[in-house]
Amino acid sequence: MLTLLKLLKDGNFHSGQTLGRDLGVSRSAVWKQLQQLEAELGLEIHKVRGRGYRLASPLSLLDKDAIEGAGLDSKWTTFIFDSIDSTNAQAMRAIEGGTSLPVLVLAERQLAGRGRRGRKWISPFAENIYYSLVLRVDGGMRQLEGLSLVVGLAVMHTLREVGVAGAGLKWPNDILVGQRKIAGVLLELVGDPADVCHVVVGIGINVNMQAAPEVDQPWTSVRLETRQLVDRNDLVVRLSRQLAHYFSIHLAGGFSALQVEWEHNHLWQGRAATLLAGTNKVEGVILGVDAQGALRLKVGNDVQVFSGGELSLRLRDDS
Ligand code: ATP
Ligand code: BTN
Repeated sequence: MLTLLKLLKDGNFHSGQTLGRDLGVSRSAVWKQLQQLEAELGLEIHKVRGRGYRLASPLSLLDKDAIEGAGLDSKWTTFIFDSIDSTNAQAMRAIEGGTSLPVLVLAERQLAGRGRRGRKWISPFAENIYYSLVLRVDGGMRQLEGLSLVVGLAVMHTLREVGVAGAGLKWPNDILVGQRKIAGVLLELVGDPADVCHVVVGIGINVNMQAAPEVDQPWTSVRLETRQLVDRNDLVVRLSRQLAHYFSIHLAGGFSALQVEWEHNHLWQGRAATLLAGTNKVEGVILGVDAQGALRLKVGNDVQVFSGGELSLRLRDDS
């Protein structure tokens, strides 16, 4: 089925006869596979008598050679899955299985993509980037301080490189264009930071997605912003380069080396907001982040500092 998809990915018409010949199967077998592509992968295929078949929109499929051949650190082991529950879950299995590190797990789609606090990350086939990088943490807690904010900076610069000029950050883990979410970061820890520990850096970027009724908050994608089909392999390579760059600054100087740059790109700096922690709410004005990446909020006449994975910020209507 995926061989057929590779023949169709250009978005041009292909006759049933040519497809059958290239695949070595009958025209009715081609028809059956097309039905499967529609049903299983949610792809829209136009069927026009006399012209053949074409995808409603061309696809950019992941290609291991294109990614590995781009001169990235050759020590990274890359795995690409057509379909997986979650690239983060797969990365955690790779740690347990003792795969040599660093490991990069990518997938064309996720069946159980995860966001923070057990939320779902919508992950349709061949549209977006689902990226999980495993790193070994030998530097203790310091190496983890502000790490998800550092990843956000790398994602934001990757997006700007490909023309999303308005990409900016929202504490702690979102990359937005205006009020619309274009990417999210989910870090998951395996082991004990005081001993041997690994961190899975999970990144979801909306790349070529143009419709997603299941996403229940404002969102956008690179394609919606730039009006161009994006080469996902090129984006993976750019992202990997930006991550390597920002990790090296973080490793040498800690988050404090990036605090000013992060605040400079924080879209909600100085805005009135509500911080949600479970059922608790704190109202304040966003001052920025401290040297560990914790949120600094002016609450009345006090400055309070908040950190932890369970916190969410919402803009106040009057901000
Ligand atoms: P906060 O971090 O402030 O809680 P959030 O509302 O974005 O921000 P997250 O847990 O970070 O919450 O992200 C998960 C949410 O992202 C989901 O509940 C869903 O609304 C949304 N979402 C899921 N898939 C996508 C996607 N592909 N693009 C944009 N948003 C998505
Ligand atoms: C969020 O904003 O809540 C974080 C979303 C993170 C999604 C990515 S997609 C790749 C990796 N695998 C997952 O299951 N989640 C992360």
